[in-house]
Amino acid sequence: MKALILIGGFGTRLRPLTCTRPKALFPIVNKPLLQITFERLAENGVDEVILAVNKLTQFHIRQQHLPKYGLTVKYSLDPPKIPLGTAGPIKKAEKLLGHDDPFLVLNGDLITEINYKEMLATHAEGKAVATIALHEAEDPSRYGVAELADENRIKRFIEKPPKGTEPTKLINAGVYVLSPKIFNYIPSGRAVSMEREVFPRLAEENVLYGHKVSGLWIDIGKPEDYLQTNKMLLETCADKQRKNPRFECRNPVALGKGVVIGENSVIGPCAVLGKNVTVGKNVQIRDSVVFEDVKIGDDAVICGALIGEAAQIGKKAKVTEGCIIADHVKVKDGVLLREKVSVCPAKEV
Ligand code: GTP
Repeated sequence: MKALILIGGFGTRLRPLTCTRPKALFPIVNKPLLQITFERLAENGVDEVILAVNKLTQFHIRQQHLPKYGLTVKYSLDPPKIPLGTAGPIKKAEKLLGHDDPFLVLNGDLITEINYKEMLATHAEGKAVATIALHEAEDPSRYGVAELADENRIKRFIEKPPKGTEPTKLINAGVYVLSPKIFNYIPSGRAVSMEREVFPRLAEENVLYGHKVSGLWIDIGKPEDYLQTNKMLLETCADKQRKNPRFECRNPVALGKGVVIGENSVIGPCAVLGKNVTVGKNVQIRDSVVFEDVKIGDDAVICGALIGEAAQIGKKAKVTEGCIIADHVKVKDGVLLREKVSVCPAKEV
């Protein structure tokens, strides 16, 4: 089975961390999201993956040398300066995907335990051109919402309906099985939205189906969702942590290789520290994700924040809820960053 992963978006909601890496390479408890996706696809009988990228995301992914778990990995590049949206890249990869069998399409910013084989079976049952994984959400208004008719057929698909008008709580989980007939529905050479153009038309023609999924499903698109994803996965592996007499670890906590922590620091709950992070004395870090190679000075406090690769946080600095500090930023000694401050890459504050 072939799978196409969409990794060419701008990830504006996670800026400025996405200025220097695609969402698919964000670490989830210290493992790049794309590596987790490769692992899951290989376990589910996928043998070839096509990454729908732009020039920048392709560059970053090639540099990572991720383990591929036996998958053949190919790239399909959006044209320069013309992002193709969520459907255009599927048409662009037509030759690579071929016309023989149905294939999978996944958004690149998801963590999910969807059973792809079961989805494929649902797809094969009906007359579907597309089968969408449907997840039940508390607030469906943020997503595309599906209204089912008989036998899993979707009679209406509405992208981000105004709050209170959603016909159901069943949302587009960003995973589809598509038949090669889909290529007839996507014009080439321009941006095309799967959710706003293709799905509504398929629903009208009675060839759009849904497959309800349960279990773990989360997209990391917003800072709070990204933090929440790390928290959820940390909680499932919390008992693996060790105690250390010099500093206090309040589980769940994950520490990458080569992390050094000074005396009397309190790490956690819900803190992820990437490879080679150095933490001074009397530091507090909780509800945060700290990327690789970050240096944190004595008496600093970090709570509810994202700290990008190789950033430096000065002594007695305080980084509070919702702050996003991009790669290579220097926050000087004693600086207080109030709620939701973002600092662009390599800036000094
Ligand atoms: P925001 O700007 O924060 O909304 O993020 P985004 O650009 O990633 O958009 P969204 O979350 O809606 O995208 C869903 C998936 O489609 C993600 O995995 C994106 O990487 C991918 N995607 C979005 N636009 C494009 C595009 O123009 N080309 C390609 N190849 N992928 C895209």
